[in-house]
Amino acid sequence: MPVVVHGPGSASVASTLAADLDAQACTVEWKEFPDGESYARITRDVSGQDVVVVQSMYPADRFTHLMMLLNAARENHAASVTAVIPYLAYQRQDKLFLEGEAVSARWVAQCIGTQCDRVLALELHKPVIRQWFGVDALDLSADEPVAAALRQRDVDVVLAPDAGARERAERVARILGADHDFLEKTRLSGTEVRMKPKALDVTGRRVAVLDDIISTGGTMAKAIEQLKKGGCAAAYGVGVHGLFLGEAAAKLRAAGTDEILAGDSVESQYSQIHVGGVFAQALAATGVAKHQ
Ligand code: R5P
Repeated sequence: MPVVVHGPGSASVASTLAADLDAQACTVEWKEFPDGESYARITRDVSGQDVVVVQSMYPADRFTHLMMLLNAARENHAASVTAVIPYLAYQRQDKLFLEGEAVSARWVAQCIGTQCDRVLALELHKPVIRQWFGVDALDLSADEPVAAALRQRDVDVVLAPDAGARERAERVARILGADHDFLEKTRLSGTEVRMKPKALDVTGRRVAVLDDIISTGGTMAKAIEQLKKGGCAAAYGVGVHGLFLGEAAAKLRAAGTDEILAGDSVESQYSQIHVGGVFAQALAATGVAKHQ
């Protein structure tokens, strides 16, 4: 039976995971030194145990917490160390765009891979990142828990905010037996952009706009504003990872969003999509744990 430990901001995923696997959840003692450095101690003997470390990476300095927990498990002779990373930070910079830059997505993945035997991540922004961990790594999908939340709300159309995100919308729609489409942007003037479903008429329909990340909320708010103007019956703003930076939530409400939904991969008041079960199933499949 594995031992599950988690760092700050990751209690929700860790508790679902531990319950689903009937695993032992173990507390971590955290302290902060006066100069701002962190201290972490796993409060039980993990030698010879399979340790599962759950640490989401928002805010981005939680990278340090993740590395500390992985290292604590390693230094205390865990039999195996699995990193469960509900939200992986630093994914934007996945290549050299300009001379002199760091390729953060690659080095962050490489660093994580030095301290664990296996990585389970959720909805990576680019599939190539998975290879960079240098250990067994899975890029899991949140489609099932997203679909479960949308089913409860009788959503009958799933829309991607752009063509690049349409596969996710299509997969979730398939699970729901709903329709799907993506929003097409047309620039009407220097300041005006129209966003409209490519093919579907959503008048009177219950629509979810589904994106991988809601960051400043700009993309989602624009989409929902136009769908509401176009006469949809309800519009849900759904992000697998909801960062809700600055005034994001206010922007979404002002656009007429009926409900904002996000995964608990980043904990917030909108975290109504529980992704721990996805990790539990994947861990059971690796043989590290038994699913209940
Ligand atoms: C972009 O590639 C992502 O899939 C999201 O569309 C983006 O991060 C959303 O950002 P914002 O909420 O700031 O519009």
